[in-house]
Amino acid sequence: MSKILVATEKPFAPAAVKGIKEILEKEGYSVVLLEKYTEKKQLLEAVADVEAIIIRSDKIDKEVFDAAKKLKIVVRAGAGYDNVDLDEATKHNVCVMNTPGQNSNAVAELVMGMLVYMNRVRFSGKSGKELKGKTLGIVAFGNVGQNVARIAKGFGMEISAYDAFPNKAKFEEYGVKYVACEKELFANNQIISLHAPATPETIKSINYDLVMSMPKNGIIVNSARKEIIDEEGLLRAMKEREDLTYITDIMPTNNDEMVAALGDRYFSTPKKMGAQTGEANANAGLAAARQIVGFLKNGEERFRVNK
Ligand SMILES: NC(=O)c1ccc[n+]([C@@H]2O[C@H](COP(=O)([O-])OP(=O)(O)OC[C@H]3O[C@@H](n4cnc5c(N)ncnc54)[C@H](O)[C@@H]3O)[C@@H](O)[C@H]2O)c1
Repeated sequence: MSKILVATEKPFAPAAVKGIKEILEKEGYSVVLLEKYTEKKQLLEAVADVEAIIIRSDKIDKEVFDAAKKLKIVVRAGAGYDNVDLDEATKHNVCVMNTPGQNSNAVAELVMGMLVYMNRVRFSGKSGKELKGKTLGIVAFGNVGQNVARIAKGFGMEISAYDAFPNKAKFEEYGVKYVACEKELFANNQIISLHAPATPETIKSINYDLVMSMPKNGIIVNSARKEIIDEEGLLRAMKEREDLTYITDIMPTNNDEMVAALGDRYFSTPKKMGAQTGEANANAGLAAARQIVGFLKNGEERFRVNK
């Protein structure tokens, strides 16, 4: 019987695991669970005889591919797949997929929640600010960006977005103004929400100059990846501009420095939690299981991300 591994350092919710098992076992696969593992050795042992792996933020590199002799497919239950070495996957003839869109509402709700929390001075009882009427600039108008726009509309915000590969129909559908240049987006919006993937083009792209160009009392909220931030540049800009606020779901490498220098103008979740809801867990996990069945049984590759 073909084996499928669910390898999650940060496990899925129990209901999601149950659903994943149901889908795969019904199709005749045997499911192996490796949860909350603490050493890479455990992962290397577990992959030895499996045909497919479902992961979350788990790192899949050359060593893992070398150890997984029967592996045909890895599905990252989630959107970002920078934790998988795509070149090595291709060299080992392994298909890599993500499950786009499955957790985007969860991330978008967190973004809006963090904005409200910080605008209402951490629910301290002090007088805060409203979101209604504020300008919101979305960097990367993909699944999460679109969900942020949908919810922000309900708050009465004015929304613009930039995307390197814009799907103009989506801008129209969500009633969002398309901005052709990131610089213009930063210069003209009080709140900037980051949703770009970590790629060679985006790494450290949110830099000193962009941050400095923001209007007075600007807020940047990051639910994408810490790698897209030039952390030194951000800190320098925020020391020079005492009106700016940075909110993030991905704790920066220089968190201690940020806390010490910025105090109340900075907030990070203790651990990335954008996709940490029962619903998102289940959506992404079940989608991953279905995509594996589609691939192994019918060669379906719709969500493949490597060549
Ligand atoms: N905080 C969390 O828990 C969490 C959860 C899910 C996703 N994420 C992060 O959010 C990112 C976005 O997720 P998504 O589901 O919206 O992904 P998505 O693939 O639906 O959208 C990504 C968008 O980025 C655009 N893009 C690509 N390169 C760009 C560039 N150089 N400049 C500007 N835009 C660019 C694409 O055209 C696309 O529209 C993911 O890559 C991931 O890193 C974080």
